[in-house]
Amino acid sequence: MKVLVVGGGGREHAIITALSKSPKKPELYAAPGNGGISNKAKCVDIKATDVEAMVRFAKENNIDLTVIAPDDPLMLGMADRFEEEGLRAFGPKACAALIEGSKVFSKNLMKKYNIPTAAYEVFDNAEDAIGYLKGVNYPIVIKAEGLALGKGVIIAADKGEAEQAVRDIMCDKVFGDAGSRVVVEEFLTGHEVSVLAFTDGKTLVPMVSAQDHKRALDNDEGLNTGGMGTFSPSRLYTEAIAAECMEKIFMPTMDAMNKEGRTFKGVLYFGLIMTEDGVKVIEYNARFGDPETQVVLPRLKTDLLEIFLAITEDRLSDIDIEWYDNAAVCVVMASGGYPKSYEKGYEIFGLDEAEKDEDVVVYHAGTAIKDGKIVTSGGRVIGVTAVAPDLESAIKKSYEGVKKISFKDAHYRTDIGRK
Ligand code: AMP
Ligand code: GLY
Repeated sequence: MKVLVVGGGGREHAIITALSKSPKKPELYAAPGNGGISNKAKCVDIKATDVEAMVRFAKENNIDLTVIAPDDPLMLGMADRFEEEGLRAFGPKACAALIEGSKVFSKNLMKKYNIPTAAYEVFDNAEDAIGYLKGVNYPIVIKAEGLALGKGVIIAADKGEAEQAVRDIMCDKVFGDAGSRVVVEEFLTGHEVSVLAFTDGKTLVPMVSAQDHKRALDNDEGLNTGGMGTFSPSRLYTEAIAAECMEKIFMPTMDAMNKEGRTFKGVLYFGLIMTEDGVKVIEYNARFGDPETQVVLPRLKTDLLEIFLAITEDRLSDIDIEWYDNAAVCVVMASGGYPKSYEKGYEIFGLDEAEKDEDVVVYHAGTAIKDGKIVTSGGRVIGVTAVAPDLESAIKKSYEGVKKISFKDAHYRTDIGRK
């Protein structure tokens, strides 16, 4: 069986690693892939957003299953195009991926179906938004409607900052068309947990919980990033909370999407916050999270390929999804300067040394091969994941791995997994 994974980051490396363990022994391809993925899959030089080239490649090479991992090709309708061509793809259609692609859509969905989330208002012009900001409590949250690489959310401490955010998004269009509308939302306090779920639209199976560390520096200081590290399970996500989420959030979301004629098939990501009035949804994503995947999939006991196939055949209920009773920690090593500007092309040393410990896997995010050497090619360069019987040992092992790896100006947080 030939399987193509669309994308080229740490998440895709983790998906490919899990697929490579399948007893079905798939022949793996990645587009575009990266320096680390090329050890396990044939990397094809097609951009993840090039829908037509991806369809052509899958057709010409008789690909049996294409896994669409990143958000933008999903929003561009890659899954729809594969279906039109009679090709099998894993990932929601564009009409369902809108749950991530439009914050206005997802907020209105939650309101209509009573799914707990922060109170909000939507504005399509800056004047009305700024008028509204006069009468609200601070801090307040301003969100650009569309995809903005995780940067379209501003937590404004006062009216000045909030007005500035509205002007940046709506007048100066710093996030382009993603900022045609804004959501102004109540600021919630509580711990955040990510729960990803497999669903075929009839059955929904949550994966083990995870927590992300979005800020660049220790103690959650510094700028927001795509994620500097993760751990699984969350210490706060108890069985009682999981049951509350299943009843009040997960199943109602799947049902709501069906009622709207937007059946969601794929991985639905719930960004949750545990407030004093119960768990609420901060955001939905229409895909595996990055770097959550790098701690969730190493804990999966069941064959991931079998799960993907079952979802594309609407028979998820037939499978028993099992997890190891252990813990995983992923520490991201980033280029110095990230999330602002940084240099690329530095050689990375010690990768094999770190992986000598069989409980450590290095997932490549921004790496490339140059003259036979692995070099840095992005902001988040690698994620060092360790799996161990408990969180404490996983933290220790992943930092032991990190210490063996080096590249010029490497930066990482030293407190991943401590939350
Ligand atoms: P989002 O892109 O919607 O996930 O937002 C990015 C981050 O902003 C979240 O992970 C939260 O840390 C924070 N955030 C978003 N919405 C809120 C809110 N209503 N209250 C507090 N923090 C928020
Ligand atoms: N780690 C957050 C995301 O994948 O959006």
